[in-house]
Amino acid sequence: MKVVGSIPEIRKILREIRLAGKTIGLVPTMGYLHAGHLSLIDEAKKHCDFVVISIFVNPTQFGPTEDLDKYPRDFKRDEKLAREHGVDLIFFPDAAEMYPKPFFTYVVTEQLSKTLCGASRPVHFRGVTTVVSKLFNIVQPDVAVFGQKDAQQAIIIRRMVGDLNFPVQVIVAPIVREADGLAMSSRNVYLSQEERRQAPIIFNALKSAKEFVSKGDRDASAIGKLIRRTIGGSPLAEIEYVEIVDPITLENVQNIERGTFVAVAVRFGKTRLIDNVVLID
Ligand code: PAF
Repeated sequence: MKVVGSIPEIRKILREIRLAGKTIGLVPTMGYLHAGHLSLIDEAKKHCDFVVISIFVNPTQFGPTEDLDKYPRDFKRDEKLAREHGVDLIFFPDAAEMYPKPFFTYVVTEQLSKTLCGASRPVHFRGVTTVVSKLFNIVQPDVAVFGQKDAQQAIIIRRMVGDLNFPVQVIVAPIVREADGLAMSSRNVYLSQEERRQAPIIFNALKSAKEFVSKGDRDASAIGKLIRRTIGGSPLAEIEYVEIVDPITLENVQNIERGTFVAVAVRFGKTRLIDNVVLID
């Protein structure tokens, strides 16, 4: 497994790989790998001959008061996990390599980046679409794999790829959960013991919403209330949003239909957790 930090160097290596007729898969990450990331790597391996993961804590997707500086990092551990998992190359650039100064060009997916998480994180998706565009241009993957955990991110990236004709197939892999249902996330390490104990209430609420829908309830407002009530049962949970939305426009729906999903953001102390479920598959 190679570790490469420079853009010219990774381009040179990947040119050879392409010339050898191999397909390339990319899993963009911010590191601090967990089983969720490893499942994305497995997915990329199913579709491609050569798997690249990027590890880059992307400064442009963090707001000025967010956790850029304290975002968990452990490259040695990531490197070991990636090697054990059959990754072929880690792209590990620094901020100067990705954002040489001056830097003036951003990619924005209008509308979709303003709702849900975008409402409280106004620069977040602009940072994500910019860095993912850069990674697509640097790596030129045949396939790129993202997690359903970040449902809005996945929808925005698919839209960007379609709108801007990036020649890449986007695959969205299912959420990987802890045994008690909490969606895996690098940020789960921020939770105190008591917050961690209460956090599975989020998935319990989403699961019972899905059960209600499976029994025939299609009223988004009633399902939304049910979810709020269930999560509200945890004294430490502070709901940021519970939205039941269309999977293409991310607009709120009144009636739940196939593909409609519920997305939530909930704070436990200083930690902001997100989760989602598709209500009718
Ligand atoms: O999902 C993430 O970890 C990040 O948003 C991504 C896609 C790697 C871009 O920095």
